Formats: sequence, structure tokens, C-alpha cells
Amino acid sequence: MTRARIGVLASGGGSNLQAILDHLAALGDARRGDVVLVASNRPDAGALARAQRAGIARAVLHSPHAPDGADLASELEAHRVELVALAGYMRLVPPEVTAAYRGRMLNVHPALLPEFGGPGMYGARVHRAVLQAGASLSGPSVHFVDEVYDHGALIAQWPVPVLPDDDDRTLSARVLRAEHLLYPRVVDAVAGGEVRLGDDGRVHGERFRGARLPVMDPSLDDRALAEELDRTLGLASPA
Ligand code: GRF
Repeated sequence: MTRARIGVLASGGGSNLQAILDHLAALGDARRGDVVLVASNRPDAGALARAQRAGIARAVLHSPHAPDGADLASELEAHRVELVALAGYMRLVPPEVTAAYRGRMLNVHPALLPEFGGPGMYGARVHRAVLQAGASLSGPSVHFVDEVYDHGALIAQWPVPVLPDDDDRTLSARVLRAEHLLYPRVVDAVAGGEVRLGDDGRVHGERFRGARLPVMDPSLDDRALAEELDRTLGLASPA
């Protein structure tokens, strides 16, 4: 099987990167992609340390205040990256790169888009906005990336209940559990060509038809949640 060469862009701790690495490792020979590059705009990003531990090539994008299109494009090209997964990447990807990777670049956002997204909506701000709005559901959205923040076609959303005594930390932790289970499965499905962006700008494929999944039950442990998600998506659970 030829596997897609995946590049992950991350600015922070990299827990989603880790979830992708762990999931692909658990899938073993059945995985449809390999992470071949982790790039960050921050030399101190925890994601780079995780990449180093995993023996994956790393790149620091050196132009934190200038457009980093050329830098980024040449790193992706040098490592022959076919699919890009943004995982806590805090910068707008330059339009020349989003254009080159149309339908081949994914992002995970920690709220139910199109609400609570866009410029300035990252980290704790997202969860505070959800709480302030009195929403009863939040949860990760995985989408194809286009040239507008948090805007591209939605592939999957996993609603997570907002509980009455939540603060941004408790809500963020619950949403992050869902991110860590959902995002790697979407990355693998896109790597395997099961999900794709059509010329009509819509998501096509046999999986993730209709982006909204049933609401997550946070009382389940991670293993049971993963099994439930795999059942919903019709995926074989990793051993
Ligand atoms: C996640 O909440 C993700 O949704 C958002 O940034 C956060 C990254 O966390 N885009 P981590 O670096 O993967 O731990």
C-alpha cells in the first residue's frame, strides 16, 4: 500500500500531533499515512519535542512576523508532503500554500463551526465564548482548510455536552478528548482517499457523510468512546 506523506503544522504542545502519531501506530500496517514532517513557527513548541522523540523530521519556520509562504512551501516540498494536518497552528496559512494543498489540508477547531471560529478565536477564548453564549453543546470540528480562518468545508463534528458548572478549562479538556479521538481518524480517512473535497467545494466520500456525529457521552472511558466512534463511522477499531 502506498501511504500518504503527512506534514503536521503545530504551534503548541502538540497533543493532537501525538494523538495522530499514536493512532497511526495503533493501526499498524492498516494505516494510510505516515507523518514525515512536523513544522512549527515556534522553536520552543512542545510539538517539535514530540516529533524529535518519534524520530520525525522537524522544521522551524523562521519568519514569525513576515508571510512565511515561501519557507513553508519549500519545507513541504522538500519532504514531499502530500497531506497537511494543522494541529494547533496559530497562524494563517499563506494563500499560495492553501491553494497548492486544496483538498489536502485539514484543521481541527475546538468548537462547532461556523460558530465560535475566525480570527482571534483560539485556545481558551473559544471555550469562554461558548460558555458566555450559554450553548449546550460544543465539540471539535474537522474541516478542509481554505484561505479564510476556520472556514473550509466541514468533514466531521463531534458534539460534546457543555455541563452547568463548566469553566473554560473543564470544557476544553472534554473537547480535547473528542479531538484526540476524532482528528486522527479523519486524517487517516483523508490519507486513504475515503474523504475528499469535490470541485463543487463539498465533501465527498463514503464516510463522514453529514458532518454532525451523535453527541459524545463523556461518562465513557477513552477506550469505550473510541469503540463507539469507530462503530458510528463504520471503522475497524485498532487492536
Ligand atoms: C486544540 O484545541 C485544537 O483544536 C486547536 O488548538 C489546540 C491545540 O492543542 N486548533 P495541541 O497543541 O494539539 O495540544
